[in-house]
Amino acid sequence: MSLTDSVNQLLDAERDHGGYVYAMALVAAFNGLLFGFDTGVISGALLYIEDSFGLSTFLEQVVTSSVLVGAILGAATGGRLADRFGRRRLTLAGAVVFFVGSLGMALSPSLPMLIGWRIVVGVAVGVASVIGPLYISETAPPDIRGSLGFLQQLMITLGILLAYVVNYLFAPSFLEVIGWRWMLGFGAVPAVALGVGMYFLPESPRWLLEHDRTEEARDVLTRIREHGAVEEEIEEIREVSETEAKGGLSDLFEPWVRPALTVGIGLAVLQQVSGINTILYYAPTILSNIGLGDIASLFGTVGIGVVNVVMTAVALLLVDRVGRRPLLLVGVSGMTVMLGLLGLGFYLPGLSGVIGYMTLASMILYVAFFAISLGPVFWLMISEIYPLRIRGTAEGTASVFNWAANLLVALTFLSLINRFGEALGFWTLGVFSLVALVFIYFRVPETMGRSLEEIEADLRDSAIVGPDSGTSEAPDSSE
Ligand code: GLC
Repeated sequence: MSLTDSVNQLLDAERDHGGYVYAMALVAAFNGLLFGFDTGVISGALLYIEDSFGLSTFLEQVVTSSVLVGAILGAATGGRLADRFGRRRLTLAGAVVFFVGSLGMALSPSLPMLIGWRIVVGVAVGVASVIGPLYISETAPPDIRGSLGFLQQLMITLGILLAYVVNYLFAPSFLEVIGWRWMLGFGAVPAVALGVGMYFLPESPRWLLEHDRTEEARDVLTRIREHGAVEEEIEEIREVSETEAKGGLSDLFEPWVRPALTVGIGLAVLQQVSGINTILYYAPTILSNIGLGDIASLFGTVGIGVVNVVMTAVALLLVDRVGRRPLLLVGVSGMTVMLGLLGLGFYLPGLSGVIGYMTLASMILYVAFFAISLGPVFWLMISEIYPLRIRGTAEGTASVFNWAANLLVALTFLSLINRFGEALGFWTLGVFSLVALVFIYFRVPETMGRSLEEIEADLRDSAIVGPDSGTSEAPDSSE
């Protein structure tokens, strides 16, 4: 029986899943909620922090990007820690850091303390960005792994929206200068949910098998796979881990891993340099430039948050039917066109009237196109394409590049538009978006409906066949 036959059999057997597997994914996706909340909350809080401590533009940027610096650290270590201590234990530790860090930020007596705690929370955000997708992909059955993996991004977008709402609720003037403390401290609530939820969940069966804890792995699999098929899955996971040489970071540079590494890092960087966080950050400015009042701008911003959530949910329903590549190709094409129009809106004189609304529409559509493509697919793919033995480390590496690119954009975009104007700024993002499109077309494989082990076997085969797998890997458009 070929590998494909056994995978098909596995799929049939798993057609009917227990609710448990969804609960596991949902709890793990609280990692995403905290990621979204803690990166999103600062935009609104900043105004009030300024009242407390008096911030220069430079310090404002430091407060904003300190979370990103922490996240780079967290992502750099998270993968290895996950491989070493297990996905569950690391998630529990992360929840504790989120909780303590949120209170630490809320109670900070001085600016340096606040920045320090932001870095600490950032570390947890970086870890969360790695561990959430990892745990979900390793426990999900292949035929719904995409949808479950998208939960992480759905929760990221919900976290951003929650941050907008919390900012709004704690903004009233009677809270005066303490509003920001409640905003930042609110992160402790989802941290409790993550910790308590994960406490009751088991370790990832793939990690257990990797650490020769077969009995426990079998127990877990029996709970999350309704119709038997447990032994086949154990066998499949074993087969893959036995054919792999032991090792860690150096494995990342083995020729057969290289195509996957290129895909992960490429998507990581392109997801950020095509400007999503700039647009999210810029939304209020654009809204007020086209003449909307304060309240209307606020609602507009919340509206953009809602579009982000809703379109991610739409993509969640599509990903295991149409596949990853079609979503990416359609979404990134749309993003490119919208960035072109956005630049044009700023290039033409005066943002009011028809041009203003065209600009607003392109911004909303840009977010919608991102939400069905680069947003969720990047976080999903980096949990799917790496070999088991180094999955944590490799996923962490891609995540580090994502956070570093995020930081780079945060630190440079404002200076770019100050010097060259908004139009050129958005067109630059458009060019990167176009590069993303080309990269996806030529490099990114389809992973829909295949088990993680099958994806890995393909990778290995393509590396053995090609004289140099780093350049011979063609996109797999057969699905
Ligand atoms: C993705 C990005 C993140 C961004 C978010 C917006 O998760 O990685 O940087 O803020 O999407 O929805």
